[in-house]
Amino acid sequence: MKILAIESSCDETAASVVEDGRKVLSSVIASQVSEHIIYGGVVPEIASRMHAQAISGVVSKAMSDAGLGFGDIDAIAVTYAPGLIGALLVGVNFAKGLAYSTGLPLVPVHHLRSHIAANYISHPELEPPFLCLVVSGGHSHIVAVNDYTDFSIIGRTRDDAAGECMDKSARAMGLPYPGGVNLDKISKDGNPELYKLPHPHVDGGEYDFSFSGLKTAVVNIIHNASQKGEQISVPDLGACCIETVADCLVGNTVKAAENFGFKKIALAGGVSANSRLRARMGKVCAERGWELFMPELSLCGDNAAMVGSQGYFEFKSGNIAGLELNAFATMPIDG
Ligand code: KG4
Ligand code: ZN
Repeated sequence: MKILAIESSCDETAASVVEDGRKVLSSVIASQVSEHIIYGGVVPEIASRMHAQAISGVVSKAMSDAGLGFGDIDAIAVTYAPGLIGALLVGVNFAKGLAYSTGLPLVPVHHLRSHIAANYISHPELEPPFLCLVVSGGHSHIVAVNDYTDFSIIGRTRDDAAGECMDKSARAMGLPYPGGVNLDKISKDGNPELYKLPHPHVDGGEYDFSFSGLKTAVVNIIHNASQKGEQISVPDLGACCIETVADCLVGNTVKAAENFGFKKIALAGGVSANSRLRARMGKVCAERGWELFMPELSLCGDNAAMVGSQGYFEFKSGNIAGLELNAFATMPIDG
């Protein structure tokens, strides 16, 4: 079964054709980074306009790269939630137009579910159940993936997402957007013990996270240094920040895996590209004899191949939308 998938939840306009949920026949991504860089973050209105300009060409290229016509496609999958509402609506409306004109079924896909599905492409042997740490710019969840379309949230952030914490910390250090990526690069050889940062404790939520205090601590170190006319070391502070985030993410994931009996662990979302997080997770899993699944780097960030993968499993479970499908800025993964 071949699915044409569309993704426009944030600042990437993407389309892909995926066969049977695991085989990518084409994947096209038009990134808007160069448009948002001068603002230091994504400007929602600009994102929507850029999606509207790019989507037709991106979808056409995905079809021609796959060497297929609409007669060869079995369904249209689209990210409908969560994300920037104006951005999502561009993809959803384009997909609805295609579904109407071709008569193909329309499959709504949850953005975080699709991040998890990136692992099905990178690891064709991976099947649920497994435990997944989903870390993106807007979300940080520990999720039990009971089945392809059955999820339970075990832990979540109480405030900022891990990606947001790294993006804002990077900005305070003077690094350009997208902060997390640049923080990762610059801090590769930094000393992760030079600066003392708080390890947040969350009352009453054994597996929950809190990252806003960490972000504030980083900003305070920078302000205190500048008031005293001292220089901070960006590679060292960056390494400390990422190491602290990784401590929290890895610590809670290990605790959840032990307590819920998972020996298959996965990472997903944009932050899963982080080199320290990948290394730390690799180490703890190897020490315990657990299997670890991580998407290849090109599938960690937003793309449509992962939407085509999850779309396949949603379709098989009967999740098909009518032309009244709407987009939603928020939506629980286990809804
Ligand atoms: O999944 P994603 O592409 O978009 C959302 O759904 O939010 O995640 C974007 C987030 C941003 O916060 C970005 O800085 C972060 O992922 N990110 C990274 C790295 N690559 C992307 N954070 C740390 N290290 C990286 N290498
Ligand atoms: Zn994402």
